[in-house]
Amino acid sequence: METTQVEKYDFDVVRWFSIMAVVYLVIGTLVGVLIASQLAWPWLNFDIAELTFGRLRPLHTNAVIFAFGGSVLMATAYYTVQRTCGVRLWSNKMAWFTFWGWNLVILGAVITLPLGITQSKEYAELAWPIDILIAVVWLAYSLNFFMTVAKRKTSHIYVSNWFFMAMMVMITYLHVVNSLAIPVTLWHSFSVFSGVQDAMIQWWYGHNAVGFYLTAGFLGIMYYFVPKQANRPVFSYRLSVIHFWSLTFGYVWLGAHHLQYTALPDWTGSIGAAVSLAMIIPSWGGALNGMLTLSGAWDKLRDDYVLRFLIMSLAFYAMSTFEGPVMSVKTVNALSHYTDWTVGHVHAGALGWVAMVASGALYHMIMKLWNTEMYSAKLVNLHFWLATIGTVVYITAMWVSGIMQGLMWRDYDEFGTLTYTFVESVAAMHPFYVMRAIGGMIFWAGGAIMLYNVVMTVRQANARRAVNAATANA
Ligand code: HEM
Ligand code: HEM
Repeated sequence: METTQVEKYDFDVVRWFSIMAVVYLVIGTLVGVLIASQLAWPWLNFDIAELTFGRLRPLHTNAVIFAFGGSVLMATAYYTVQRTCGVRLWSNKMAWFTFWGWNLVILGAVITLPLGITQSKEYAELAWPIDILIAVVWLAYSLNFFMTVAKRKTSHIYVSNWFFMAMMVMITYLHVVNSLAIPVTLWHSFSVFSGVQDAMIQWWYGHNAVGFYLTAGFLGIMYYFVPKQANRPVFSYRLSVIHFWSLTFGYVWLGAHHLQYTALPDWTGSIGAAVSLAMIIPSWGGALNGMLTLSGAWDKLRDDYVLRFLIMSLAFYAMSTFEGPVMSVKTVNALSHYTDWTVGHVHAGALGWVAMVASGALYHMIMKLWNTEMYSAKLVNLHFWLATIGTVVYITAMWVSGIMQGLMWRDYDEFGTLTYTFVESVAAMHPFYVMRAIGGMIFWAGGAIMLYNVVMTVRQANARRAVNAATANA
């Protein structure tokens, strides 16, 4: 072995999670491109039940959130906890159990979702046996992380670990409560909640999945990888601690903003909106903290393409955490809800923030884990531009189409009747659906280039290692 760090820590499991994350990014976004294309050209449903939009949409969300996002979170958490605590994982075997267990969950999703087996709860569609497996694997992941932190050699716990731990605790709690169900057959169950309580529990889960899984976890990533890649300390450690506590205590209250104007009592929606607005402060504080880490060294962005991903992700994080609170206000939500504006907001966060920060972190880790440079820096740069342009095309199309949809639905003529039929609004969406599909293809191409670059980097590094080993033995 020519590296020293690699021998010091349990990095093999991190390597595999990292590679799988890139593979799942390509697959998950490919399904995204397919469903986006189905909305633009419905004949792509092929009249085959398993391939219809209704079956593939949850496959897309599960693939990008759980397969891609989960692999990124596991790779980065196992990597950073060892580096920041100066110790190996508490249990390498348990980490491998989470690798195989998580991939089994993904396989379960790939088989059951196209077959139409679903609990009909968004982002919690998977059937109860898979839910149990998720809980077991997640607990093993969390226990391993907490125990590694407990045996650390450093005196304090670095802020990224706090974000990871908050995510682990909250996701356990959310997943278990929202999945409480009475099984009737192997693949079918009834939720223990019903009616409006079911809706409230579902969106308490739904938004905290965004708040903790797609935000807190990825902020843990940001707080480790931005300073590392920039080779500078985080702008303000004190601000990062304030960011952590305000976000953790605030996020749990805002789920009701998903249920404005429903059977839920009106005041719950008002609380949801008020807390959502308050969340702009910690979110922007955190985004600025990340960006200002570069203050005085902005020139690094000129040739450090990995850093570009990390900083651009913070710009999108700031943008989507401004947009979300605005959308939670009842008058704005009256226009945006049920429209493509929501989908645009989702992907500003998902593509611009989650996928970008993850790509930056993955490039950084891959170079460290294989102790090499990337096979092609130019391809990293090309990926950066394709990801940025793809995201902008996607979200712009959805803003225009969403606001147009909302305005068409609420337009009345002088006799008080609706100006447009629903189908007219569907027809008006067509150009924007085509535009979104094109934006998605551009984004996907960037991911495919990343996969190629990663495979070539790993192959080159392994070949070099083999030559070195042979020379050493000769
Ligand atoms: C090439 C990239 C992508 C494309 C083309 C794409 C496309 C789509 C489409 C067409 C939908 C369905 C929208 C609808 O029902 O009207 C969707 C939903 C969704 N996608 Fe993506 N997607 C992509 C990447 C991602 C990524 C990377 C993530 C997460 C990290 C993500 C998360 C989601 C979520 C959470 C939803 C549900 C949105 C909602 O219910 O409002 N997508 N996507
Ligand atoms: C302070 C931060 C944020 C607030 C207050 C917020 C608020 C909102 C609001 C009001 C909606 C629309 C609810 C509706 O009308 O149905 C929404 C939807 C959504 N947001 Fe955010 N958002 C924030 C940040 C983010 C980020 C960073 C992401 C992604 C990483 C994200 C992902 C989503 C998703 C996936 C949905 C769609 C849920 C669904 O209907 O399926 N949000 N958000």
